[in-house]
Amino acid sequence: MEKRRIADILRNGQPDETVTVEGWVRTKRELKGFAFMEVNDGSFLANLQVVINQDFPDYEALLKQLNIGAAVKVSGVLAASQGKGQRIELQPESIAIVGDSDPETYPLQKKRHSFEFLRSIGHLRSRTNTLGAVFRVRNACSNAIHHFFQDRGFLWIHTPLITTNDCEGAGELFSVTSLPLEKIPQTQAGKVDYEKDFFGKPAYLTVSGQLEAEAMALAFSNVYTFGPTFRAENSNTSRHLAEFWMVEPEMAFCDLQGNMDLAEAFLKFIFKYVLDTCPEDIEFFNKRIDKTVLKTAENIINNDFERITYTEAIALLEKSDRQFTYPVEWGLDLQSEHERYLAEELFQKPAIVTDYPVGIKAFYMRLNEDEKTVAAMDVIAPKIGEIIGGSQREERLDVLERRIQAAEMPLEELWWYRDLRRYGSVPHAGFGLGFERVVQFMTGMGNIRDVIPFPRTPLNAEF
Ligand code: 4AD
Ligand code: MG
Repeated sequence: MEKRRIADILRNGQPDETVTVEGWVRTKRELKGFAFMEVNDGSFLANLQVVINQDFPDYEALLKQLNIGAAVKVSGVLAASQGKGQRIELQPESIAIVGDSDPETYPLQKKRHSFEFLRSIGHLRSRTNTLGAVFRVRNACSNAIHHFFQDRGFLWIHTPLITTNDCEGAGELFSVTSLPLEKIPQTQAGKVDYEKDFFGKPAYLTVSGQLEAEAMALAFSNVYTFGPTFRAENSNTSRHLAEFWMVEPEMAFCDLQGNMDLAEAFLKFIFKYVLDTCPEDIEFFNKRIDKTVLKTAENIINNDFERITYTEAIALLEKSDRQFTYPVEWGLDLQSEHERYLAEELFQKPAIVTDYPVGIKAFYMRLNEDEKTVAAMDVIAPKIGEIIGGSQREERLDVLERRIQAAEMPLEELWWYRDLRRYGSVPHAGFGLGFERVVQFMTGMGNIRDVIPFPRTPLNAEF
């Protein structure tokens, strides 16, 4: 008998087809003369209903074992369902318990559980409707990303997770060392003797693959990375993770304008792709998690993003009668409350804010002619705030070296990065999309910890 995924059966299955399914019992209901069992294999939001008649062999004994959480293999014949709620159901010919489950201690019961509770059972929570839908949408987002770039001839490159540079210069680095922590070798001056360490110098988990992506873009023209990045920022917010995935395209022969155009087309493509491939999951989020999910997606797909400069953004914030917690002043960074006010209330759609003050952005961003601002861009979104950060890069060697020194970064160690400005330097640009933030944005999930299977946050690395 043909093994089929439940998604395929619920979408395409026809009466009288014989099928085999394997999955986990979500519910069991005993009625007079028969029982309903709902099975889910993770492929679809809805469960497959299995109708077991009381004349099924060993009916009583079998029902005792068909407990919530148990793994089963069921073969039988599809039939048009008499009941409401499903088009097709399964009439079993054989049911095997592959792995049993104790219904008394199984932590997932039929009722609704809080997301906080579900985080404490990270190894099981993906068996719930909401987390199941999240991770299918997350998968579709990944697929969309590769489709988008591959169709445009971008090369997918893998940048190192271990680096010796601090790309963003924010000092939020996790150290990587093989030195014995209980007996760290020291220099005569009493400092850590990194020459004895694995790489012979301090090394870290990367905060961004950008610097290496730039080197690759100057060979392949258009490239992208898609991988994990790490930040030891001690922020316990609903939008920060210590380990998150970032997508970083980098384009040679490209300026800020081209960068903005790509970012906007990119976000539109991801939303459209997910709406097309996961309609049931998105409908579920729209109904159960956030009633604006569908409207937001359509808004993104069908409208141009707002584009304003940082200076214009500050003027708008100063004009508003809103009381912000953080000060609004030219030269200070925009806080998430400011970003959300602009995107959520003023524009009611994503906005691209450009040309930030040089003092608040990373060393690699291209200095504008005014020498006060850099060719930076942040895409800010309703509910989320910053979802993309990017820039045109400084391609002029002398300006770059001044910026590195002003940022008090080690000029020597960035020798190879400076070399790129010496041999065939071209205007180039790129950005980083916070992958979990886009999944949050798509699904309306309030907390970033619920859109990555096993979140890493301060004091939390259980699973
Ligand atoms: O703005 P960021 O710091 O930009 C960079 O790292 C650049 N090197 C990217 C580039 O130009 N290639 O980070 C990019 C995005 C942010 O806009 C945000 O969406 C996400 O990464 N992000 C985080 N997501 C989850 N948890 C965190 N701690 C994050 N920090 C940044
Ligand atoms: Mg940023």
